[in-house]
Amino acid sequence: MNIIDIINKTKKSQELSEEEIQWLVSGYTKGDIPDYQMSAWLMAVCLNGLSDEETFALTAAMRDSGDVLHLNIPLTADKHSTGGVGDKTSLIIGPIVAACGVCVAKMSGRGLGHTGGTIDTLESIKGFRTDLHLEEFEYILKKTGFSIISQTGELCPADKKIYALRNATGTVDSIPLICASIMSKKLAMNANILVLDVKYGSGAFMKTKKEAEKLASLMEKVGTAAGKKCKAVVTDMDSPLGKNIGNALEVKEAVELLQGKISGKLYDICIELAAEMLQLAGKGSFEECCQLAKDAISSGKALEVLRSTIQLHGGNDKICDDTSLLPQPLLKYEIRATKEMEILGFDCEELGMTSLLLGAGRINKDDKLDMSAGIVMNCDIGDHINSDDIIMTLYSSVCSDFSVPALRALNAVKFKITERPSYT
Ligand code: URA
Repeated sequence: MNIIDIINKTKKSQELSEEEIQWLVSGYTKGDIPDYQMSAWLMAVCLNGLSDEETFALTAAMRDSGDVLHLNIPLTADKHSTGGVGDKTSLIIGPIVAACGVCVAKMSGRGLGHTGGTIDTLESIKGFRTDLHLEEFEYILKKTGFSIISQTGELCPADKKIYALRNATGTVDSIPLICASIMSKKLAMNANILVLDVKYGSGAFMKTKKEAEKLASLMEKVGTAAGKKCKAVVTDMDSPLGKNIGNALEVKEAVELLQGKISGKLYDICIELAAEMLQLAGKGSFEECCQLAKDAISSGKALEVLRSTIQLHGGNDKICDDTSLLPQPLLKYEIRATKEMEILGFDCEELGMTSLLLGAGRINKDDKLDMSAGIVMNCDIGDHINSDDIIMTLYSSVCSDFSVPALRALNAVKFKITERPSYT
């Protein structure tokens, strides 16, 4: 085998064999194939795509480039979202599904760029440890049925290297490459049940519903071919998920939802995703599983799972009763309407960047976070608001000048002036 033949085959849309793909991935991971040749192959994939069989072979080869987790628990479920703004669903779905008797084991990442990361969000709870050993992870899962930790061991080193190269060579936006990158990591986590939330819209990788459906279908096929019970759901990211964006603010909203205080889009999506997981676990029909998920909230059982999980991770579980114990911002800035208007939509990527500038996210890997920072949305798509009504509130403890984040926040609002003209 040689790399020139492999590049040429993909360039001419000829299918590669499983062995050729394994050779390519392992050669690149070991450093035998240089960046410039791998970049050429990645660009050929961007332009010509891969067959479903090639995508599966690429995913499996990337999974097998590092550790594959083997927990001593008979049935575990995992969930993945393809990146969203204000997406705190893992903190809500995990406790719901665990309260219904299915173990949810997740490894998550930190936020980088405009989307947040669940590990940062959890670390806004005072004392909460995310860097647990696998033995502790397993212990908590057996006790409460739900735990999230930061990545341990060497999962998918091939993806780490290939993703960095894709970022530097304009080869990120390819559905088979995105599928292989996400699914290799999920398959290395090795849960039996996998629910994937594929997002589309302004704050997501996939800008249109059609693209998101293509990615979802491919991910489902790859998961199923790997022997997992797998379901991919497509959801929009035209507005943030829930009202709060930012670490402590997102924990607050998750707790309030589990306290039964929140309805609407966030609640509906959490019930849908939890029900998909429960159905794959054999807990009943989709409708029956929706009811189980709703009951887990209304009975308070899901909140109790979250409380026990926080406690076993060393965190202050009193936040489950009193969210004012979460980090509180010192400063706030209200964005108000200057005219009567209808809210048409939001640029979620801009909202994510605003939150980052307020201190909630990081531009560089080692930036320190302001856990109290973020945004609370005071209105939603379709709302008619009056002049001087608050559109959103920006919070920070570190931002001394709100002018730049305020401008970005304003740019993120798509609206139509509805004020009647005055005739004089
Ligand atoms: N997230 C990933 O992990 N990989 C991609 O390629 C895109 C999003």
